[in-house]
Amino acid sequence: MPGENVTTLMLGDVVGEPGLAALERCLPGLIKRYGADFVTANGENASLFGMTAEDARRMLAVGVDVITSGNHIWEKRDFWPFMDGEQRILRPANYPPPASGRGFILVRKGERRFLVVNLQGREYMTPIDCPFRAFDKVLAEARAEAERDGEAPPCLVLLDFHAESTREKEALGFYVDGRASVFAGTHTHVQTADQKILPERTAYISDLGMTGVLDSIIGMDRDLCMERARKQIAYPLRVAEGTASVQGICVSLTKTGRALAIERFSVV
Ligand SMILES: [Fe+2]
Repeated sequence: MPGENVTTLMLGDVVGEPGLAALERCLPGLIKRYGADFVTANGENASLFGMTAEDARRMLAVGVDVITSGNHIWEKRDFWPFMDGEQRILRPANYPPPASGRGFILVRKGERRFLVVNLQGREYMTPIDCPFRAFDKVLAEARAEAERDGEAPPCLVLLDFHAESTREKEALGFYVDGRASVFAGTHTHVQTADQKILPERTAYISDLGMTGVLDSIIGMDRDLCMERARKQIAYPLRVAEGTASVQGICVSLTKTGRALAIERFSVV
């Protein structure tokens, strides 16, 4: 039935001022073009590295409903208390407690209730708690939270898995198949062309890509990154200058959270 389906946009890591500017320039048009009901974007590099309260305000003001993050969210110590007060910013749920902020949120928007979950990988990354067990725990906690509020269990479940290893991403993708509506990998800043719908109707992509300058090395100044790679000297990094693109996916879901279609985009 028309109007019964739900459309979500999930955007790749916003990198620096060019990324924020691209988000402000392109997101209203993307929401309109796709008729999006809900938007997430990963903000951990909005102010390389980490993000600020002002970055978060800009992202939320332009139409992002929930900001996800990853390993770099801890870079700016004075941002931690802000995360405690603004629940629409997530950090990976599998950081060992106590950690500032939260790893999932239930959001009501119109008639719909969305559960957004943020997790982080462990392969080639800091060995934090198990993301597989953390997903099970988050689902149980979200169900309990819904029950306390007299609501039905959440079925529109959007997962940002911030990870380096494609193998780990695919493993978690199949693990959550049928329980998450969308599995979106982040962190590498390089968009993958493997978007698909898994057997139990979870939409999947290994990496959303980046909201940043594509003529760069993962959003950063090419020359500096090349020098670092050639000389193995940790020169301070700098965000690339230029016009940024917005990369991500649009997923169409049934009202019960089953994926119908997934489309990848990269717009300037
Ligand atoms: Fe990251």
